[in-house]
Amino acid sequence: MRVLITGATGYIGRRLKYRLQREKNLTIRLLMKQDKSSYPNDAVEVYTGNTFDIPSLHLALNGVDVAYYLVHAMDSPNYRERDRQSAHNFLEACIAQGVKRIIYLGGLGEKQSASEHLLSRIEVGEILSSRPDAVQTLWFRAGVIIGSGSASFEIIRHLVEKLPFMITPKWVNTLCQPSAQKDVIEYLSLAAFLEMRENAIIDIGSEVMSYKALLLGYAKAVGLRRTLIPVPFFSPKLSSYWLTLMTPVPYSIASALIEGLKSEVLVRNDNAQKLFPSIVPIPYAQAVELAIEEIKHEQIISRWSDASGHAWEVNHSDLANAIYSDRQIIPIHPNESASVYKMFCSVGGKKGWFGYDILWRIRGAIDKLFGGYGISRGRRDPVHLRIGDSVDFWKVVDLQEEKRLLLFAQMKLPGVAWLEFLIKDGNFYQTAYFYPYGLAGRLYWFALIPIHFFVFKGMANNLIRSVRKGVEDS
Ligand SMILES: NC(=O)c1ccc[n+]([C@@H]2O[C@H](COP(=O)([O-])OP(=O)(O)OC[C@H]3O[C@@H](n4cnc5c(N)ncnc54)[C@H](OP(=O)(O)O)[C@@H]3O)[C@@H](O)[C@H]2O)c1
Repeated sequence: MRVLITGATGYIGRRLKYRLQREKNLTIRLLMKQDKSSYPNDAVEVYTGNTFDIPSLHLALNGVDVAYYLVHAMDSPNYRERDRQSAHNFLEACIAQGVKRIIYLGGLGEKQSASEHLLSRIEVGEILSSRPDAVQTLWFRAGVIIGSGSASFEIIRHLVEKLPFMITPKWVNTLCQPSAQKDVIEYLSLAAFLEMRENAIIDIGSEVMSYKALLLGYAKAVGLRRTLIPVPFFSPKLSSYWLTLMTPVPYSIASALIEGLKSEVLVRNDNAQKLFPSIVPIPYAQAVELAIEEIKHEQIISRWSDASGHAWEVNHSDLANAIYSDRQIIPIHPNESASVYKMFCSVGGKKGWFGYDILWRIRGAIDKLFGGYGISRGRRDPVHLRIGDSVDFWKVVDLQEEKRLLLFAQMKLPGVAWLEFLIKDGNFYQTAYFYPYGLAGRLYWFALIPIHFFVFKGMANNLIRSVRKGVEDS
């Protein structure tokens, strides 16, 4: 059997790939927007393309039996239209290529009370299921996913760990049925082998509980005492700003989640139990423990922020477009290359930015105030990076062993910015590039020149100093 995973660089897609690799006699193919040469060679077929590039879709679906649809365009302004088009393109290409089964993961909830984002997920499910005569569709519906790195879990974790008292909106009493991330991946992987020809909607979730119980359940798991005081005056807008400031998610994600919290998301059919009797849903408390274990052991496979969003739409190799730059050059010995590479790949997160961390934190706070990511996303892993990883408010867009790390700025900026670390011809180059939008962009760059002078110079010098200190210490 050959399966195709679309959304292979996303939170669910990355984990599903790891799980499916345990299956024998299965060929795994991935469709991803990023250049395939950037993906580690780990015994999977990798195709570059996307659901709007029809020829790439046909090529990727050729010879495929089961196609996973784990794609969404939540961060585009017109995401509902894009998601509809994307699903239509996918369905038509699956039919043309003789795919036998589509497996889709959407959200739990009813159409009448659905948020804009959930409505879009429902529309996608309806489109993919609309040709049962030509291709079967198994449509899974999950609510809050509890697992390390999932957006909902990160929000719960940050709120509980930061706030001893929480004044909360009324919606904390809304009921939901969370799913352990491990269960979700198990359902999706077993679905490839299900002996059944008809379409099915499969609702998944564990026990029924309120969002308040989710927050208090996490507090109990980590041994914290927390008090929640629900008040009626919290508007969705205020709640979204509060989540943006207190947690790593940007305003766009916070507001979509808050909108969804107003109505109950409960399992409406027992298909999961009937079709997958071997899976006994993991209770919430245990799902939290599993997530904490993964974080403790720094074994996080994927995070909600791993998908690149629009990062690939920018031409990263063409830094020549950047009008302004700040370059630091430091000569290094050839035998220092490996250590210098390792050192610049450890930048950000808990380690910080090699000096002036307070300034980075202030910049992160300003970003949060404008609804951006800030620096609270940190890193997935303290040492290793891969393309697509988020590092505070940056995204890794190029990584070449012992040579280059290119970060693309995802902070709110009046322009486009990159930060490049490069080892070349016996030198270490650190370059910040900026392409300004209009007058605001130009004023921004010039206003920051004095700060950049200290921050970038200090970063390059301290980075090399840390490498040499490490050698001396050892
Ligand atoms: N995560 C949850 O908590 C959760 C809960 C319930 C349901 N779900 C459902 O699970 C599915 C997957 O969610 P997720 O959290 O894994 O999403 P995600 O992390 O945002 O990943 C989305 C993936 O889709 C890819 N993508 C976006 N547009 C594409 C296009 N036009 N063509 C090809 N690939 C495209 C992205 O590629 P790039 O990396 O290149 O941008 C990324 O790999 C969604 O349907 C979601 O509604 C998720």
